[in-house]
Amino acid sequence: MTTKTINHLLTLEELTPSALDDLLGLAAEVKRQPEAFQSALAGKKVALLFEKASTRTRMSFEVGVVELGGYPLFLSSSDLQIGRGEPLTDTIQVMSRYVDALMIRTYAHETVETLASAGSIPIINGLTDSHHPCQVLADLLTVEEVFGTRTAKTLTYIGDGNNMAHSLMIGGALSGMHIRIASPEAYTVETDIFERANELAATTGGSVTLWQDPVAAAEGADVIYTDVFASMGQEAEAAERLTQFATFQVDATLMQQAKSDAIFLHCLPAHRGEEVTADVIDGPQSVVFDQAENRLHAQKALMLTLLT
Ligand code: CP
Ligand code: NVA
Repeated sequence: MTTKTINHLLTLEELTPSALDDLLGLAAEVKRQPEAFQSALAGKKVALLFEKASTRTRMSFEVGVVELGGYPLFLSSSDLQIGRGEPLTDTIQVMSRYVDALMIRTYAHETVETLASAGSIPIINGLTDSHHPCQVLADLLTVEEVFGTRTAKTLTYIGDGNNMAHSLMIGGALSGMHIRIASPEAYTVETDIFERANELAATTGGSVTLWQDPVAAAEGADVIYTDVFASMGQEAEAAERLTQFATFQVDATLMQQAKSDAIFLHCLPAHRGEEVTADVIDGPQSVVFDQAENRLHAQKALMLTLLT
């Protein structure tokens, strides 16, 4: 069986390779013909709950729900009773009576798992400390647009073994891509996620490999990807991380290791002069704003898949 019902999107592991193909195909169609979907979520309410800051995730979900004819409810945890200690399991049972889905950005990944098991509506992970699946849907759509395919493309991620690295390993493995993660040894990815991604890659002809030398990892790559050295919640470690990641900056010399038609991706927000130089992120190989736009189209396809 190649398809299964998708109830939630917590890590991308809910998807089979063919379900991911279908979702990205729908995203491309939604992007081409948005007017064909403008009533698709008529009458549906989608709660968008943030425990961390956001520009792209908040706006692309809010605009996406509106463009599909649904109704978005923006919620901040500091304004809800969960900010005063109401149990998550009570909150999600109440929410399940009011809305058709919940997108949440939070800290511990266990939070989204708890919500998914205690509630009766689809839960969409809008970023946890461990995963950022919605971002990777947009990233894969962007790779497909640029190269006409994802299969067998090499994506080198340089930097922290964080939520982005984890989701790229899973999404890349599902896509039959070659994902190389280059991080300082003390900041590499979580072993269990790496092992699961590796198992997935073995079924698709892809691969997931860990590197400590960013220059070697970038050689011959189709895509160079990076993210901030200190993620949300790690602000106190920012100065130490700048030192630890000093040789992991994506600059023009590093880009030259990749193929001549390689693209540069970054989930944003970016810190020019830290993880990437301005000449790279603002240069001709960078497609970061197409990538950011694709959040909207990919998530519209995701909501159509989960809610219709
Ligand atoms: N890439 C991303 O998730 O951006 P925001 O933090 O602005 O939502
Ligand atoms: N790794 C970053 C991604 C932001 C979109 C963070 O978690 O802050």
